[in-house]
Amino acid sequence: MDHVDILIVNANELVTLKGKNKPRRKEEMNELSVISDGSIAISDGNIVDIGKDLRYSADTIIDAKGKIVLPGFIDPHTHLVFGGSREFELDWKLHGLSYMDIKQREGGISYTVNHTRNASADQLYIQSMERLQTMLSYGTTTCEAKSGYGLDIESEIKILEVQEKLNENHPIDIVSTFLGAHAVPENQTAAEYVDCVINEMLPKVDKKAVFCDVFCEKGFFSYDESKLILEAGKKQGLIPKVHADELSDMNGGILAGEVDAISAEHLLKINNKSMDVMAEKQVIGVLLPGTPFCLMMNEYAPARAMIDKGVPIALATDLNPNCYVENMQFMMQLACFNMRMTPAESITAATFNAACAIGKQDKIGSLEIGKQADIVILNAKNSTMIPYHFGINHVETVMKKGKIVRGN
Ligand code: NIG
Ligand code: FE
Repeated sequence: MDHVDILIVNANELVTLKGKNKPRRKEEMNELSVISDGSIAISDGNIVDIGKDLRYSADTIIDAKGKIVLPGFIDPHTHLVFGGSREFELDWKLHGLSYMDIKQREGGISYTVNHTRNASADQLYIQSMERLQTMLSYGTTTCEAKSGYGLDIESEIKILEVQEKLNENHPIDIVSTFLGAHAVPENQTAAEYVDCVINEMLPKVDKKAVFCDVFCEKGFFSYDESKLILEAGKKQGLIPKVHADELSDMNGGILAGEVDAISAEHLLKINNKSMDVMAEKQVIGVLLPGTPFCLMMNEYAPARAMIDKGVPIALATDLNPNCYVENMQFMMQLACFNMRMTPAESITAATFNAACAIGKQDKIGSLEIGKQADIVILNAKNSTMIPYHFGINHVETVMKKGKIVRGN
């Protein structure tokens, strides 16, 4: 009998997400490729076999009877590294203040920028490490992280370097995005700052980021400014992403198509033409239902319309000081209850399509032979339980590259 490092056996549902290696759309998002009474064999950090009744000897055998096994969750949109917190804004929100009202009152991004600039790299590292620990406990095994609370060269690079160090020292893999264009800093005009991002910051980002993002929104960066920055990022080898159509319709999906972005994110106010462009170009719509939830907006991104049109959908937390949440299970619950996504769609959106949104689907996002053994075991009898039984942590065991990093 062949020997492997770890053998997981008897999973009530082994949710593999085996399928085509491109963003899943329409009905494909409902196809989870479930093996009942499934087993999975792991060696050297990778999946070496998967199926029913696998016969191997193993250093560790995990009995997943009555439980479900899934690919580790992937959070493809976070603002992981920030200084300070903004709990005082909750009272403002309860008094009816909108995101823009909060910005006028010196809350919002500029408040966090001051705190992030004043924090040392070590302080940011320690605070972000705690957030990563929380993410891991809820089953996230890979995330994207954006800079954007520095808004000057030194502070933006400080954030990207903290992300590099966190990536080296924490089991969660972190893919970095440069979001220098998160807001226009005080004492600069938009034109001056766009010039600074393009000509001074972007050349210094170098290999510290994979993606370049822009907050394309009224009072932040216009369509044309966003396009200039994303095109300049491309020249530096950075793949475009867009914070699009979050608070107003900015033709964000069209912009994403025009610059060949991998994803457009938020999309509450997306128009039909933008949806068509995203469907045609297979730009992934990364939906962040935690944000309208905590802004008390009673409005969510039109997930059903996007799915019907053929836009591949992923989910993410948007973890940031406005939307302080690390838990992808909660995003799946909001996706079902507030955006009417099916439980299966929400699982695809939090795993395989999320991997696609950060360009990592060759290695992660599904449980298939040869892929990395990033696996979560949930104490739930079937995958519908994840949204159905909400508000608890279903995750019992987290495995990263074949090592148990949480639980037993
Ligand atoms: O994705 N929308 C822009 N950026 C963040 C919020 C940043 C903040 O309020 O601190 C977001 O929601
Ligand atoms: Fe965001």
